[in-house]
Parts: sequence; structure tokens; C-alpha cells
Amino acid sequence: MAAKPFVSDIKAIRERAREHIRKGAVTEGYKADRGTVIKILNEALATELVCVLRYKYHYYMASGIHSKGVAAEFLEHANEEQTHADQIAQRITQLDGKPNLSPEGLLSRSHSEYVEGHDVVEMIEEDLVAERIAIDSYREIIQYLGNDDPTTRRMMEEILAKEEEHAEDLGTLLEQLGQKGEPNAEPLKKAKAHA
Ligand SMILES: [Fe+2]
Ligand SMILES: [Fe+2]
Repeated sequence: MAAKPFVSDIKAIRERAREHIRKGAVTEGYKADRGTVIKILNEALATELVCVLRYKYHYYMASGIHSKGVAAEFLEHANEEQTHADQIAQRITQLDGKPNLSPEGLLSRSHSEYVEGHDVVEMIEEDLVAERIAIDSYREIIQYLGNDDPTTRRMMEEILAKEEEHAEDLGTLLEQLGQKGEPNAEPLKKAKAHA
């Protein structure tokens, strides 16, 4: 018995590809609701852009207050969030959508917030909150996409893994600052005592 071909009707697939050639990467086999996916991705794009701006602000503000190591971490995160924004915008165009880069309404489209913070510990805490929000909402997006749009899902899984890394970095920074006797040293110790 001959092995079952992976693609059952290559001729039909080729014909379909020609017929809908103007749709770019979106083929008939695309199972997700394209409009919804584009809308969700534009929210993720806004989330990333707000994160870029917040990390950049924290970078410039932390540079002056003998926190060179923390500032470097903020800058690294800002650059990685920008890469995420670029990946997401690229995917939106592949899906024949328009990446929403308008500054108007950016914050209301974003899941994360823009909080300045008064000192370096507060900045790290606000960044950690924002990362945790991104982690939760990206996990939901991944679940929503399921097997209907594996390319977008894979991209979001990659980004999610990076956000988890960011959150871990920030947690480590908070612990290090706590050990140095910074303002959050007490609450950290108390939290550990209750655990
Ligand atoms: Fe990101
Ligand atoms: Fe992040």
C-alpha cells in the first residue's frame, strides 16, 4: 500500500493559491477570524509600544541616580519590546491588516500602563506589574489562537517567553536592591517570613 500523501490535492491547492494571490500570506486554509486576530495584535502592539516608552523613560531617569546596572537592564528591555512591536506589526501586515501606530488612543489600546515611578525601586515594581499584565494577556491570546493561526501563535509564544524572562530579571533586581537596604527591603523580608 502506498504511503498516504501529506498533501491530498496539490493541484487544488495550487489553483487556490493562484486564485487568491492578492491576499498575500492569507490562504483559504487560514482558519482564524482575521479581523479579530488583527484587532488583538494591534492591542499587543500598543502594549509593546507603551512598554518601550516606559522602559526608555526609566532608562533615562535611572542613569543619573548611580544605578548604571539597572539602567542598562531598562535599556535592554526597551530594545527587546521594540523588537516585539516590529514582529507584531510585520505579522499584522502579513494578515492584510494595518498596524495601528497612531499615538492617539495608544494607552487605551494597550494592556499595560505607563507609570513613571518616583525612585528606581518603584520603577522596577511598575515594570514588573506591566510584564505580568503582558504575560497574562499574551497567554490568553495564545489560547484564543489555538490551532487556527499557528504562525501568529508561535510568534506570541516566543514573545511570551521573553516577557517571562523580563519579569524574572526584574524580580532578581528587586531582590538585589532589597539586600542592599533599599526602601523595599522591609516588605520583601516580611513577605518571605509569611511564605
Ligand atoms: Fe514585549
Ligand atoms: Fe517585556
